[in-house]
Amino acid sequence: MFHSHIRTVAAASALILSVGVFAMGSRPKGDDEAVNSRIAPVARVELAAPSAAGAVVGDRSGEQLYKTTCITCHEAGVANAPKFGDKAAWAPRLALGLEGLMKSVIAGKNAMPPRAGSDANDTELARAVVYMANKAGGKLTEPAAK
Ligand code: HEC
Repeated sequence: MFHSHIRTVAAASALILSVGVFAMGSRPKGDDEAVNSRIAPVARVELAAPSAAGAVVGDRSGEQLYKTTCITCHEAGVANAPKFGDKAAWAPRLALGLEGLMKSVIAGKNAMPPRAGSDANDTELARAVVYMANKAGGKLTEPAAK
């Protein structure tokens, strides 16, 4: 309890210190509002808790989600998962289109659990489907971010 309190205080002071240094380095005299608006994006990035890969959960790219989640089965083709980049394995699936593929991913299909067992939202899942499909010869278009 005591130790974890120390750690929290230390982390908080490190954050304040780094924001402070950033502000001092770029502060035009007497222009606090402009400084605040420049600091804001930095603070937001700190608080959004990016994962190790720098991906923000809820707004991951298809490649980021693939590399943290889908890769588990699709890289090696576990349990008949169509392998990454395998055009022959993907061709009949591409025929389903993005909508059909999304139905499979959201509901799950055979050894693939619903939402591929991930915490990803629909936009992230669609991006990952497009990423994988297009690396296997597809020409799907990524949906616009919500
Ligand atoms: C636990 C293993 C596993 C994980 C993790 C996984 N998949 Fe799958 N996936 C499968 C298997 C197995 C199939 C083949 C299902 C079948 O047709 O029998 C499949 C098929 C698919 C298909 C083709 C669906 C169809 O209707 O033909 C898509 C698209 C897909 N996966 C996308 C993804 C995406 C995107 C992720 C990551 C977010 C992911 N998968 C993660 C196992 C997995």
